[in-house]
Amino acid sequence: RPDHRQHQARPAPDRTPLTCQTLSTRRHLYERDFPVYKQPVEIGSFSLDSERRFFNDSRQMRYYVEPDRSPSFDLRDGYKDRFVKRDEAVKEKLDHLLRWILANRSKLQSGSASPRCALDADFVTWRGHLTKVLTTPYETREGWLLAVTRFRGTLYISEVETEAARRERENRTERHQEMMYWGYKFEQYTCADSIHSSPDPGGVVNTNEAFCTVVQTRLADHKLLFSGEVDCQDKDPKAPAPPSCYIELKTTAEICTPKQRSNFHRFKLLKWWAQSFLPGVPRIVAGFRDHEGVVVGVETIHTSKISHLIKNEYNCWKPTVCMNFCCDFLSYVKHVVKEDNPSVVYLFSWEPQRDVTYSIHRDSQYSFLPHWFVVEMTG
Ligand code: A3P
Ligand code: MG
Ligand code: MG
Repeated sequence: RPDHRQHQARPAPDRTPLTCQTLSTRRHLYERDFPVYKQPVEIGSFSLDSERRFFNDSRQMRYYVEPDRSPSFDLRDGYKDRFVKRDEAVKEKLDHLLRWILANRSKLQSGSASPRCALDADFVTWRGHLTKVLTTPYETREGWLLAVTRFRGTLYISEVETEAARRERENRTERHQEMMYWGYKFEQYTCADSIHSSPDPGGVVNTNEAFCTVVQTRLADHKLLFSGEVDCQDKDPKAPAPPSCYIELKTTAEICTPKQRSNFHRFKLLKWWAQSFLPGVPRIVAGFRDHEGVVVGVETIHTSKISHLIKNEYNCWKPTVCMNFCCDFLSYVKHVVKEDNPSVVYLFSWEPQRDVTYSIHRDSQYSFLPHWFVVEMTG
């Protein structure tokens, strides 16, 4: 006779998401209270020059100069003759951030960090990678691949370009390529190199140049260290300390109809919010342009007010879903990525309408922690 007591005593199958081998991206699963997200603290910054060389300083910082109320910036100017484009086929992975970490190791080692944990961070990555994670529950077009390596207790996350993204990049139309220039040209119209100088729209736009902030924060129980490119800062000497003085610049098509406004709220503001909320950048300056690439209006959008701006949109995105999904994704990564080995990559993969899955790769094309970093951190 079957023993019912014994049967009942057996532990129930574990159905918590953490023990699953995949992670769902369905929105309703993440509709709960907003998780704890500490105010990000800037712990340093670095610059990349016109030849993409790394400098452990803020030489590429630029200062925002408020344009006229009705400007007429021609964003097409200089596309043919004053444009140096970064080579997107060169994959830099986490290299610049790792260089910054080595140059600033003393600042990063906390007394409380365990000896196995060389850095006081659970995760090291680019802000842009986290932006993609945040927007995943609402993304319907582009999947992603994120390579993760556990090294001395810290999880390093580095994006791998998908085949689809590579094909798109190599087959961009001439119009699309020119439109990608417009965003950088807007930066040139609105930014000066020093607090006392003016923007120089006659100069060369070189997309190799970048100023990057490095911030530390915590999402629930995940300690994060990440870096993101910053467009400019408020030049007022009374402006708050970084990252609160930073300003994100954006261009977008001018809004003429209710349908266009709705699409702007539903799609563009999601990306803008995720990008600036993560590093604690409080202001976004939007340049609205016509179809000929002329900026006809400029408006400041406060990152913290975006959730109110979208409240009247039917079936709109929710910040809490983005943050809870990110939190659960990081828990899933911590749970899955067990082997502490700089040459092992756990490749997390996601396609729209699917769950997140992963595969494991030893000494493969996906390994991304450079030898110079591993040697220096081990010594
Ligand atoms: P816009 O922001 O005005 O679109 P960022 O805004 O993140 O500082 O990036 C500056 C510009 O780089 C963008 O200006 C856009 O022109 C270009 N850009 C950034 N990310 C891109 C992407 N994924 N694809 C194409 N262009 C991109
Ligand atoms: Mg930028
Ligand atoms: Mg920008």
